Amino acid sequence: MSEPIDTLWLDEEANEVKYIDQTKLPNELVVKSTINLDEMYRAIEKLEVRGAPAIGVFAALSMYVIAANITAQTLGDYVKEYIRCSNHLETARPTAVNLSWALGEMIKELNRFTNNRFDCSLHSKSLDSIELDDTLRDSITYVLKKKALTIWENNINECKAIGENGLRFIHDGDGILTHCNAGRLATVRYGTATAPIYLSHEKGMNIKVFCDETRPLLQGARLTAYELMESGIDTTLQCDNMVASLMASGQINSVFVGCDRIASNGDVANKIGTSGVAIIARHYGIPVYVCGPTSSIDMSIATGEDIVIEQRNGSEVTKMWYNSEMSHKNVKVYNPAFDVTSHELITAIITEKGVAWPDYKSGLETLMGQVDSIRRE
Ligand code: MRU
Repeated sequence: MSEPIDTLWLDEEANEVKYIDQTKLPNELVVKSTINLDEMYRAIEKLEVRGAPAIGVFAALSMYVIAANITAQTLGDYVKEYIRCSNHLETARPTAVNLSWALGEMIKELNRFTNNRFDCSLHSKSLDSIELDDTLRDSITYVLKKKALTIWENNINECKAIGENGLRFIHDGDGILTHCNAGRLATVRYGTATAPIYLSHEKGMNIKVFCDETRPLLQGARLTAYELMESGIDTTLQCDNMVASLMASGQINSVFVGCDRIASNGDVANKIGTSGVAIIARHYGIPVYVCGPTSSIDMSIATGEDIVIEQRNGSEVTKMWYNSEMSHKNVKVYNPAFDVTSHELITAIITEKGVAWPDYKSGLETLMGQVDSIRRE
């Protein structure tokens, strides 16, 4: 079996971002390239690139490519244009914190660069008097490229570590249910919820994975089933409304899902339907593991009530997968893209830094403390 290609990467020769267009899977493997802000925005909005960590990495690579193409006469104008593009990209989708996290990391890098060199703040007027010659432009571009590539590479290593940290929760013979796609397509490689699954498969464990189809955009049917099948894993697809029946049948030992934003109390926003899965799992005494990098943790919010949930177009429910409109054309449609699973329903949160257990507040604080100290080193 050949190694799958990465979900997205920087083509350093062409200075373009390359990514798999996930709207075309599983029937076609289409790789797109872009250097254009509007295309980048649309790629995120239309879910050509999707999954919280992948969106973050894509945004970081995109901002490097955009920065490399900014034509400004002064450093002040350069920074203004950079911030304008970054702010625009940030509005493409609201729920996954990885998008604003990655854009923030890139801005911090630019800020650090201007501070170190010019000893002035990002919005300082004194930047306006600094001419942007080729040497200065090359230095900024170098710094931003290095940062974007670090975010890309870190994502690979983080997913690997999530796999290692999550492996102990999988046992030979297990049936594992997953919702949406928290697989390699939602990251650069390996995935989050799928990382322990891939690792257990690699170690020769006999596991069976059950994918929820994930209405309305079918990430489970189109993407998770595809990538697991391509990896030779025993995979079964079921509709979302079959979860209770499946759990009642005794075939499920654990639930592994990803996350788009984790609040400081451990509430988790993830693909719509995740909270329902967790409620049913609690009824049947099945553990629920949430997997994600620490960049998905938002310690600035107290609970899941503070998470903005994206509402998407109703046509995704009534039309997208049908030859013609399948519902009354004027019916109102409720189409939130995510829901919040209460921390009370989550058995453990698996990150690259380790595992957080209830009480999540202190567990997550400890994990984030480790991240901060690594950044300070
Ligand atoms: O709307 P999507 O497809 O971007 O939603 C993706 C999910 O909800 C994933 O489970 C989540 O982003 C984690 S991906 C590792």
